[in-house]
Amino acid sequence: MKALVLSGGSGARLRPISHSMPKQLIPVANRPVLEYVIDDIRRLGVTDIAIVVGSWATQIQQALGDGSRFGVHLTYLRQDLPLGLADALRRAGPFLGDDDFVMYLGDNVLREGVAEIAEEFRRTRPAAQLVVHKVADPRAYGVAEVDADGRVLRLVEKPERPRSDLAVVGVYFFTSAIHASVAAIEPSARGELEITDAIQRLVADGAPVRAREYTGFWRDVGEIEHVLDCNRRLLEDLRHRVTGTVEGGAELRGPVVVEDGARVVRSRVTGPAVIGAGTLVEDAEIGPGTAVGRGCLLRSTSLADSVVLDGASISFAGPFARSVIGRSATVGPAGARAGGRAAHRLVVGDHAGVEVAARPDGAG
Ligand code: TTP
Repeated sequence: MKALVLSGGSGARLRPISHSMPKQLIPVANRPVLEYVIDDIRRLGVTDIAIVVGSWATQIQQALGDGSRFGVHLTYLRQDLPLGLADALRRAGPFLGDDDFVMYLGDNVLREGVAEIAEEFRRTRPAAQLVVHKVADPRAYGVAEVDADGRVLRLVEKPERPRSDLAVVGVYFFTSAIHASVAAIEPSARGELEITDAIQRLVADGAPVRAREYTGFWRDVGEIEHVLDCNRRLLEDLRHRVTGTVEGGAELRGPVVVEDGARVVRSRVTGPAVIGAGTLVEDAEIGPGTAVGRGCLLRSTSLADSVVLDGASISFAGPFARSVIGRSATVGPAGARAGGRAAHRLVVGDHAGVEVAARPDGAG
């Protein structure tokens, strides 16, 4: 079996972070999402992996290299425009040949992995085996209608009136039967070649298409809220480890990782939390669910349930919660630069979002 990881796309919903990096490299619990994807695939015993990349090809290739660091072999395939998941699959035809394969969306996190589901696929080899997950509101997803034996009867993309609560997760198992189906479909109303249409075509042709429920934690990191949810959940797997220094009466509570060269000074860090290599935390309060990258500065601030990317600095401001701070961004008081003015000062890039605490009196 081979694997195909889709890491093209435009990532519009994750702006402004996705202006400067692909969402598949967003760190959750201080590891890029794609590393979790590759780990999960390797646990299936699959080491021959192709990654479809778009305009962020260079950054992704620099981050993952040839895969030897993860014990796999990576091949990069270029998709110049994000013309849909089935278009990406078309590009992988020569790599996949007649082999069975798993197609894994590079922004999906399945904390408990898909090993059991892969096992069933290998045993039964239907033309397609979908992974489905019960959701409260299926209207934002591809939805599968499944009979009592796990056979897929119909697939509908973002139905207004869903007839099932089973959302299609971004991990699919296919035999080579999918290629003819993908070759036969036309672009949808939004101009993309939809994988849902290709699978629906298999169903219509009477080919065996099955679904297996995944009951663990699943999110795609397509939106900021999901990044924070993923970060929080994956931090729960953290084991306490301190290789940096904790000084000046600083206190660590619960599972906290303080990486090499990081310093926690006169501060309290409540886990699960991770402080990346070379970061300085001084006179600060770091709450649970926080992942701080490498080379950051957190001084006289309070921060919880947040993701801080490499090189960012937050000082003399806060408290902050459920925040995402981009690489080398700075957050600080106006006074430090603007001569003690009391007003806020914002330099906010395209598509950024700023949420500030409302003024108690609502007046000027
Ligand atoms: P999506 O989240 O469906 O699309 P997107 O990445 O363009 O994001 P947005 O809707 O916010 O603009 O993509 C799911 C995964 O598939 C993601 O890892 C990107 C990848 N993908 C491709 O590789 N090629 C494509 O043509 C598309 C549409 C997505």
